[in-house]
Amino acid sequence: RNVAVLLAGGVGARIGLDIPKQLIKVAGKTILEHALIALHSHPAVDEIKIMMAPGHLDAVRAIVRDGGYDDKVTEILEGGETRNDTTLRALDSLGEGECHVLFHDAVRPLVTPRIIQECFDALEQYAAVDVAIPSADTIIEVGEDDTIREIPPRAALRRGQTPQAFRASVIRAAYAKAVRDPHFVATDDCTVVLRYLPEEPIVVVRGDERNMKVTEPIDVYLADKLFQLTSTDLPVRGSEEERRAALAGKSVVVFGG
Ligand code: CTP
Repeated sequence: RNVAVLLAGGVGARIGLDIPKQLIKVAGKTILEHALIALHSHPAVDEIKIMMAPGHLDAVRAIVRDGGYDDKVTEILEGGETRNDTTLRALDSLGEGECHVLFHDAVRPLVTPRIIQECFDALEQYAAVDVAIPSADTIIEVGEDDTIREIPPRAALRRGQTPQAFRASVIRAAYAKAVRDPHFVATDDCTVVLRYLPEEPIVVVRGDERNMKVTEPIDVYLADKLFQLTSTDLPVRGSEEERRAALAGKSVVVFGG
């Protein structure tokens, strides 16, 4: 059984509207609904749980009812205080027994079918899966005084996205240890496995530049623009042969190989 959890428990303080950012409309639908459609339309997803910010569950119930997503959406629950509390609540609602569980940020409305498929595929071999892309920017580590501590080599760095997917037994075991640690802090779920089950390898699936996280006000605008792109409009990067093949398609913008 493949369960997808849509994490929508946040309030979007950095965007700062009076509704959570996942309820903002881009390209005709709420950001949450776009993310939900990506999960719902994917054949590998058997069941969906939506974790929503307290006070906004009715909005989600209406989206699910009006969109006809209730064949896969089995639960709409309140999120917790932090993202990890929200994950814990979702895990509690899963009950006992082994399954595959994929956590996805409701504020990443442009997740692709390939990414979702590759996460589930990777769970055949690994118990924990992350999704990430290379960083074009140099990533620097700074100290509290805003001076540089370290500039790790860019080739080894990735920018983490979601989904993140796990065998349920493994993510449960990791959180069981995390909740006993008074110093526990994390902003994602792979960190919990990395820290509390360090012997467990976490495989990284290639993400996508389009799979952006709506975080700051400008991201609402960018997401809206990205929905206007179809896959054939996307810039193509690759070998001469791949670029020629793409160009033979249609309006493709080509940049460095
Ligand atoms: N999230 C959640 N439960 C929380 C906090 C966050 O399910 N208690 C979810 C958000 O809804 C979002 C994802 O985790 O889909 C990524 O978090 P982030 O972008 O930080 O969202 P917010 O916490 O809403 O944003 P902000 O930090 O600006 O308040």
